[in-house]
Amino acid sequence: MGKIFVTGATGTNGKALVEALLKKNADFVVGSRNVAEAQRILDQAVDIRRFDFSDATTYTEIGKEIDKVFLLGPPLTLKVDELINPFLDFLKSKKITRVVYFSAMAADKMGTKLDFHTKIEQKLKDDNFDYTILKPSFFAQNFKNYESENILERNIVFMPAGNGKAGFVDVKDIAAVAAVTLTTEGHTKKTYELTGPELLSYKEVASLLSEVLHKEIIYPNPSVDQFKEVLQNAGAPAFIGEYLSNVYQVIANNEVNYVTNDVESITGKKPTALKEVITRDFLS
Ligand SMILES: NC(=O)c1ccc[n+]([C@@H]2O[C@H](COP(=O)([O-])OP(=O)(O)OC[C@H]3O[C@@H](n4cnc5c(N)ncnc54)[C@H](OP(=O)(O)O)[C@@H]3O)[C@@H](O)[C@H]2O)c1
Repeated sequence: MGKIFVTGATGTNGKALVEALLKKNADFVVGSRNVAEAQRILDQAVDIRRFDFSDATTYTEIGKEIDKVFLLGPPLTLKVDELINPFLDFLKSKKITRVVYFSAMAADKMGTKLDFHTKIEQKLKDDNFDYTILKPSFFAQNFKNYESENILERNIVFMPAGNGKAGFVDVKDIAAVAAVTLTTEGHTKKTYELTGPELLSYKEVASLLSEVLHKEIIYPNPSVDQFKEVLQNAGAPAFIGEYLSNVYQVIANNEVNYVTNDVESITGKKPTALKEVITRDFLS
């Protein structure tokens, strides 16, 4: 079967994937820039190597023991392709061609500053990797991870998503798909779009949150300019407002207003509804 190398293992999706791979008794090793911190975050049974996309000296030892890679680049970062490409070139030089790449749904609709997923997808194809490309919709966990303060303290959800809808997807469902594609045959040269079971607007998400949290949560439907101004006034670097606006405009522009059957067809299980994830995240 071959040993899997998991990048991004200490993050939201990586942690869920590590859990899924442990359950499958898969043969894998993970990489982190900070091994001690990763050891604290992950199950004790997990084998951890120091790994940094921007430090090629960390590639060498890993290259000797692995056959396939789960490749995830950091969020809120520009030019992820420039960060990751040296590692892809290294893999190619070692004839390690099986790569499951973590992209995003509608990545090609996020403007030229955020075209890194598209560029990496193209490189995987051009360089003849045995790729699988995962293109998840917006994570159901974003509300807990990025909007907790707004939701719990200000009673709002605040992203420039307009009135568009998205099929928010549970990262555990994404991880289940990733684990299957890494441990079974038949997924090379395939691209999967991963969504939850239902389409929801931010206004509808605010209603769901109100129901779950037993208090009124409002969606003020901010314009891009209002959103950027609020972030700037809160001291965020300008590029964060720009980045998030470009991302959330794909909801406003109805670029992600569809659900797919890919989670169920690959895992055999129906994807989890947003309400269940929100309840799990905020109440347990
Ligand atoms: N949020 C959404 O709704 C959404 C939807 C679709 C796609 N996406 C995509 O999801 C990805 C982010 O996933 P996530 O939220 O799970 O990430 P995350 O929780 O922020 O975790 C990021 C991971 O990247 C690792 N990392 C950061 N810099 C690194 C470097 N220089 N070398 C090696 N590893 C590095 C970190 O590991 P260490 O700190 O341990 O090194 C960490 O495990 C992005 O590519 C984004 O475009 C997001």
